Amino acid sequence: AMAAERALAMATCTAPVNIAVIKYWGKRDTDLILPINSSLSVTLHQDQLKTTTTAAASRDFTEDRLWLNGKEADVGHPRVQACLREVRRLARKRRGGSEDTAALSLSYKIHIASENNFPTAAGLASSAAGYACLVSALARLYGVEEELSEVARQGSGSACRSMFGGFVQWQRGERPDGTDSLALQVAPETHWPELRVLVLVVSGEKKPVGSTAGMQTSVETSPLLKHRAEVVVPERLAQMMRHIRERDFEGFGQLAMRDSNQFHATCLDTFPPIFYLTDLSRHIIALAHRYNAHHGHTKVAYTFDAGPNAVIFTLADTVAEFVEVVRRSFPPATNGDQFVRGLPVGSAALSQELVAAVVTEPVPGAVQYILHTKPGPGPQLVDDPSQHLLGADGLP
Ligand code: DP6
Repeated sequence: AMAAERALAMATCTAPVNIAVIKYWGKRDTDLILPINSSLSVTLHQDQLKTTTTAAASRDFTEDRLWLNGKEADVGHPRVQACLREVRRLARKRRGGSEDTAALSLSYKIHIASENNFPTAAGLASSAAGYACLVSALARLYGVEEELSEVARQGSGSACRSMFGGFVQWQRGERPDGTDSLALQVAPETHWPELRVLVLVVSGEKKPVGSTAGMQTSVETSPLLKHRAEVVVPERLAQMMRHIRERDFEGFGQLAMRDSNQFHATCLDTFPPIFYLTDLSRHIIALAHRYNAHHGHTKVAYTFDAGPNAVIFTLADTVAEFVEVVRRSFPPATNGDQFVRGLPVGSAALSQELVAAVVTEPVPGAVQYILHTKPGPGPQLVDDPSQHLLGADGLP
C-alpha cells in the first residue's frame, strides 16, 4: 500500500478538578513549574465538575487554533505551547525516529476545543482540569502512553494531580530538570466510599490575585512559607497519607483545616500581603468549628484555595444535616429550588439545640449554591464520536 498518512485525526478526553488537602504554594523553578513542597489532593467526580477537550490534527489546517468554552483563545500561550511541545517530544521518542506511516504526522497543525460542565465564573479551579484534559487529549491524539503528569505539571502545577483519580500526591522531586516532580496515586476513589465533598459557591466576589503571581511573591517574601515547605509539609504529608490509608476522618479533617489555614497564613505573611479569605470565608470557618464542637468531634472540614469558594469535606451520613445548617445560615436569596446541586441530598430536621448552638446571625444570599460531589476517577477517553467538540471540518 502507498504510504497513507491520516488526513484528519481527532481525540476527546475529559478530566477532573482536584482540591488539595496539603497545599501547593510556591515554585523553586517557575519555567518548569517545580514546587518548593510536595502536596496532596482529592480528585473530584466528573459527573459534577469536568473539562472536556477535543484535539484534532489535519494536513488541511493552516494554523494552530484553540477555543475555550466556545470562544477562540490564544493558542500561543506559553503553557499551552509547553504541553504541546512535551507531548510531541514523547510521541517522537516513542516512534524512535522510524517512519511509521500509520502514525499521525507531527507536523500537522492542530485545533483544540475545550469546555467545562460548570460555569467558569463560579471560580472553581478550572486550570487544573483544563491542562490535565489538554494533555490527555493530545496524548491520545498522538498515541502517547507514557507518564503524563510531568507534562500536565508544565501547564499548571496543580494540573499534574488531576491526571489521577482518588487521592493523589504530587511529589516535589529533587532533580533540576523536573523528571521526578510528578503525581502518584495514593489510593483510588473507591478507597473511601463514604467521603463527600460540598462546594459552597459564594456570590459576587471580585477576582483576587492569581495563584501564579501570588505564590511567587510569597516565595520571595514569606519566611513562614520557607518554614512550611522545609519543616511542616514533610511531616504533614506523612500524617495525611496515614489518615487516608486508615480512613480516619477526624485526623484527615483536622489536618486539612490546619493546612488550609497555614496556606492562608503564608498569604498574610507575604509582603505586600495577599488576602484570599473574606468575611464570608471566616463566617464559614467559624460555622464549621461550632458545628464540630456541638457534635464533639470533627464532622466537617473546610479548605479554601486562592479564591472565595469554600470546599467542605464530610461523610455521607452528615451531608443532609450540614446542608440544612448551611441553608439556615445563608438563606438562599432567589434560587431556593436550585440551592443544592449535584448528588442528591436528603432532608434533615435540625434540633433546637443544634440551631441555637450553630446557626448565629444568618447572612441571606451569601452562598449562591452548594454542589454535592465525591471523589472520582482520573481523565477518561470519550469513545463516542458524537461527543467531539470539533466537527469533521475541524471547527467547533
Ligand atoms: C492554592 O496550580 O493554579 O490551589 O502552578 O502557577 O498554575 P500554577 O498554580 P496553580 O496553584 C494552585 C494553588 C492552590 C493550592 C493547590 O491546589 O495545591
